[in-house]
Amino acid sequence: MSTKTPWWIRVPVLFFLIFGLMEFFIDSGDKPAIIEYPITQFFLLLVLMILIAIELILASIENIMFQTLSEEGKERYLEAKTKKYEWTWVQNLMKKLTRTKAIEKEEEIILDHNYDGIRELDNVLPPWWVYLFYVTIIFGVIYLVRFHVIGEYDQALEYEQEVAAAKIEIEEYKRTAKDLVDVNTVELLTDASDLSAGESIFQSNCVACHMADGGGGIGPNLTDAYWINGGGIKNVFNTISEGGRPGKGMIAWKQSLKPAEMAQVASYVITLGGTTPANPKEAEGDLWKDPDAPQTNESESEAQPEQMEQATDSTQVAMD
Ligand code: HEC
Repeated sequence: MSTKTPWWIRVPVLFFLIFGLMEFFIDSGDKPAIIEYPITQFFLLLVLMILIAIELILASIENIMFQTLSEEGKERYLEAKTKKYEWTWVQNLMKKLTRTKAIEKEEEIILDHNYDGIRELDNVLPPWWVYLFYVTIIFGVIYLVRFHVIGEYDQALEYEQEVAAAKIEIEEYKRTAKDLVDVNTVELLTDASDLSAGESIFQSNCVACHMADGGGGIGPNLTDAYWINGGGIKNVFNTISEGGRPGKGMIAWKQSLKPAEMAQVASYVITLGGTTPANPKEAEGDLWKDPDAPQTNESESEAQPEQMEQATDSTQVAMD
């Protein structure tokens, strides 16, 4: 850093440089090092004090040297010092980037036509603009080669990658924000922790009418394949959330259960399917067929019960 920079730039720049280097080199996980390790705050304070101390020492050395100068030397020194803050490099840079002619020199570039007193200057193209133009050309060439010659990737691929990445993020987000589920987004939960939470919700709220094993009493049998209000996780969630048919006794549980809890108990209810309760109530409603199940044609329809068995098997495995 040139000695011409004033202290109020020198100190902050050095300070933030050290700060940046510290953050770069100290591995502190997600949080910045300054928060993760409070000792670094102390370190930075020390750095700041040392920087200020150096400035003070330099200033006093300068002062002592100044006193030793002759009168003439003092004058010259002060003259040079006041020049310090003129930012000559900024001015030079501006000059280089614009190449404007000083107003006094405009005579040199004036064109010889004259429209009612309006005259034109023959200025050069401003270099900042020309450089920008070159940059766009270079950009264009690189772009052409990358995407039209080599064909690195296209929009479709980029789209797919971003959607895939976003899906992962959504999964991640859902895991932490389970209460966002509603009837449209609810999915069958298979985690043992979710299912045991669902079971305890069932035991404390639902057994009075559905029995502990789901065999049914006031409420219908939840273990058979027949459903009054539709089977499958979405319908079951909806019945629990909004209640059964009016006047039948099944209230809307959304008042007292959180969405995540309703998803858990709904998933637990689904796992009751196919189990054999002690006193099963006779089936009510219609046989539920999953409309999302893979379509099977007639010749393969025999395979279907087997598939269903497999499905219940796998949910039971998940339950374990
Ligand atoms: C006061 C008694 C009662 C309680 C408590 C109760 N239910 Fe029900 N439940 C019923 C009745 C009655 C129906 C039938 C509703 C209908 O006919 O529309 C029903 C229906 C259902 C259905 C739909 C069954 C079908 O065939 O469509 C599900 C699922 C269900 N209840 C789950 C639960 C869950 C989970 C709980 C606990 C959070 C619960 N119920 C608590 C009485 C009850």
